[in-house]
Amino acid sequence: MKALVLGGGGREHALVRALSLDPGVTSIHSAPGNPGISELAENHVLNVTDGLAVTELAARIRAELVVIGPEAPLVSGVADALRDRGIPVFGPDQEAARLEGSKAFAKEVMEAAGVPTAKARVCRTASQVSEALDEFGTPYVVKNDGLAAGKGVVVTEDRALAEQHARECGRVVIEEFLDGPEVSLFVLSDGLHALPLLPAQDFKRAYDGDQGPNTGGMGAYAPLPWAPAGLVDEVMESVVRPTLVEMNRRGKRYQGLLYVGLALTSRGPRVVEFNARFGDPETQVVLDRLATPIGAVLQATDTGGLGGIGSLQWKSGAAVTVVVAAENYPGDPVKGDVIGGLDQANAMEGAYVLHAGTDWEGSGGVKASGGRVLNVVGTGIDLRQARERAYEAVARIELRGSFHRTDIAERAAAEL
Ligand code: AMP
Ligand code: GLY
Repeated sequence: MKALVLGGGGREHALVRALSLDPGVTSIHSAPGNPGISELAENHVLNVTDGLAVTELAARIRAELVVIGPEAPLVSGVADALRDRGIPVFGPDQEAARLEGSKAFAKEVMEAAGVPTAKARVCRTASQVSEALDEFGTPYVVKNDGLAAGKGVVVTEDRALAEQHARECGRVVIEEFLDGPEVSLFVLSDGLHALPLLPAQDFKRAYDGDQGPNTGGMGAYAPLPWAPAGLVDEVMESVVRPTLVEMNRRGKRYQGLLYVGLALTSRGPRVVEFNARFGDPETQVVLDRLATPIGAVLQATDTGGLGGIGSLQWKSGAAVTVVVAAENYPGDPVKGDVIGGLDQANAMEGAYVLHAGTDWEGSGGVKASGGRVLNVVGTGIDLRQARERAYEAVARIELRGSFHRTDIAERAAAEL
């Protein structure tokens, strides 16, 4: 199978790595890719939200599977363009991707499907905002209705800040605060059958102890030794199946990956958000643990037949990823500094580095080009060992001004 992966972050590096370990995958192309990905795939310069350009490239290289990593191409209809040309694609159509692209649409579907989620109001005016904030109380949760790369949500006790965010966004969803640990569950779907992956946990706040602003995610681990038995089955029954049925009822067959972001509240699991693509950085740990070759599984979400796959196989042990972020992330990250220690980190036992926001610098080295620069992955027999290895490798990385959280998977490892 020839595969083309769209995107150039850590999630896409993890996808390319998983495809490279699949004996059924004969060649991998990526667009735009990154320096890390280029060691495993042929990179192409391309505007990945341009359906025509993507389709032309896919046809030229005779791709038998196009894997869409980020949300932007999904929301702009790149999957539709590929399906129209009969090219197998991993990722939902534009209409189905609105489950991520519009928080208001996602809430509407959840309500119609009876999916447990936070109570919410869609607000456009200052008085609607004020009423909703009064109704739900603190902590206030204010979400930009459109795509905001994981940074459109403000959770705060500060009323003025909540109102300011609502003003800046225009149309917002305001909702009740959900208490309890968060879990990311990824589910593959061909529209009829759904296959869950291993649940993972992400760390959304920028600093240790869940302090600081929300980010795209500062680290992740899998599996979750503390997760209640039966969690995945419960979420498949109460969330995933009703959502897929509701999407079918609306004529929007959901093919690709449904990211279910959950809060495990005292009243049971509640959906915090849906996304239409793999989570970043959770994918980096989930795919590390996947033993089933990935190519045919991703392809089956488009061509059908996920039902015939049975269940996925997982490696024993655990994986932890730590994000090395650029100075000032998530505000206005500093770009252009040269990264050292990559070879040393990759040489550590049970550890490797995925590139998230990197680019070539003049003399053949690699420089930081984004907010989340690297994802250092550690693996081991359990979370404790995986964590130690991840942090030993992080210590080898040199990037001026960079920072990382030191408490990724700390509590889960301590409870083992
Ligand atoms: P979202 O973009 O909807 O995923 O929100 C980003 C992050 O904000 C989530 O991962 C949570 O950490 C937090 N968040 C969102 N909605 C809520 C909620 N209703 N209650 C508590 N935290 C929330
Ligand atoms: N890590 C959160 C996300 O991918 O949306």
